[in-house]
Amino acid sequence: MATKKARKSKAKAKYKAASKKVVKLKPKKTAAKKAASNGLPRPSSKPFGQAGKALDGVRILDFSHVQAGPTCTQLLAYMGADVIKVERPGVGDITRGQLRDVKGADSLYFTMLNGNKRSITIDSKNPKGKEILDRLIMHCDVLVENFAPGTLDRMGLTWEHIHKTNPRMIVASVKGFGPGPYEDCKVYENVAQCAGGSASTTGFREGPPLVTGAQIGDSGTGLHLGFGIACALYQRMRTGRGQKVLVAMQDGVLNLARVKLRDQQRLKHGPLTEYSQHGEGVPFGDAVPRAGNDSGGGQPGWILKCKGWEKDPDAYIYFITQAPVWGAICDLIGKPEWKTDPDYAAPPARLPRLKHIFATIEQWTMTKTKFEVMDICNAVDIPVGPILSMKEIAEEPSLRKTGTVVEVDHPTRGKYLTVGNPVKMSDSITEVTRSPLLGEHTEEILTKVLGYSAKEFDEIKASGAITAPEKGRAEAA
Ligand code: COA
Repeated sequence: MATKKARKSKAKAKYKAASKKVVKLKPKKTAAKKAASNGLPRPSSKPFGQAGKALDGVRILDFSHVQAGPTCTQLLAYMGADVIKVERPGVGDITRGQLRDVKGADSLYFTMLNGNKRSITIDSKNPKGKEILDRLIMHCDVLVENFAPGTLDRMGLTWEHIHKTNPRMIVASVKGFGPGPYEDCKVYENVAQCAGGSASTTGFREGPPLVTGAQIGDSGTGLHLGFGIACALYQRMRTGRGQKVLVAMQDGVLNLARVKLRDQQRLKHGPLTEYSQHGEGVPFGDAVPRAGNDSGGGQPGWILKCKGWEKDPDAYIYFITQAPVWGAICDLIGKPEWKTDPDYAAPPARLPRLKHIFATIEQWTMTKTKFEVMDICNAVDIPVGPILSMKEIAEEPSLRKTGTVVEVDHPTRGKYLTVGNPVKMSDSITEVTRSPLLGEHTEEILTKVLGYSAKEFDEIKASGAITAPEKGRAEAA
């Protein structure tokens, strides 16, 4: 039997070992915690929406113009990036003067695509201007451009030059086409809609190809570019270096029209049964046809007249005969017998009769306004979409409330509406501000961001690098 002393020393040793164990456990726990945090800082204790914006600290050298590039940089600015828009002295982005509605003021085309940015004028072909651009490259994280192919290189801003000047810089470009036979072409919205497969699949079978009003070539590509930039910024956190990001407008449009490439492949295995042309007995050719207002998702849909259609060109509703709510549709339109009639009860039986079915539903929708149809149908889960005019959208209170449609004030044109950030984030709240006047922030950026002294700023002014040619010469004299 162990003595009291022996028992005591055994207990002591046990305690020592245990306490050692505790000490040993500590760093393990920290490592585990670290792993769980994935190397991220501790969660902010600030209330959501008060911890800055998603892209705070990211500075963009925005060489973009017209629509595709500016859409992208405006979204980045909405997310908190400091977007410095570089414009040609005295001229600026060509859209400042395009489709002008208020004499002497920047157009809505420009103001609605360049909110939340700062503007600096620099002549990229002036030697001093080139020096300023190099300094901007050193101070920025991303260069965004959508010049014609070769333009940036002709300015001396090749990838090699930029990467050498600032290896962390991401160079993001929109071009019309990717490498290939058309890579040197200049491209605008509708060219991209046609080359990306959208136009050949839009419109009615009997008519010519159609372009859509939504700017899927320009704004759609800008959106893709913004996604690429965000990913490149994230990768740079790991690699420490920038990279080239390229989105060709043709590719951007095709990505949005991918369901039509899906249908192209399905054609090999038989007709596209959900297309109304199938129900009408019109044979398919070897390419995806235009499908009018057929729905692209396999559930038959069509645009139907509503009350007031005779006078109001937008008194229409998109009506989807989704299979799970077929019974509810039959009840609503006063055709309960269609629920059990073998010609109508099951989706395949309905396909050859879609024209007649939609004409019958239309008899019902024509007795109601599009908003009444919306309310009645949604109450029983039937998906419908009222055709909203731009007037109705501009006046819609709920869109104002969510910040999707925003009114901003502008010093030369007064109040105007713009589209706010369609992406809502709970911890990065967008405040939409007006677009800048041409060169409004030139001095501020040169002195506060790039660190030029007042004397150097005067020299820059005299060099003609930031002023329109005549002005520069006059001031230099
Ligand atoms: N200082 C001096 N020169 C400047 C300048 C500045 N700050 N900014 C632009 N320029 C010059 C360019 O150097 C170029 O001159 P260069 O041809 O002598 O090299 C000139 O302005 C015109 O630029 P560019 O991009 O070629 O414009 P464009 O009016 O000829 O073509 C597009 C316009 C949109 C067709 C063309 O830019 C393009 O295809 N872009 C890519 C696709 C795209 O984005 N299309 C959609 C637009 S919404």
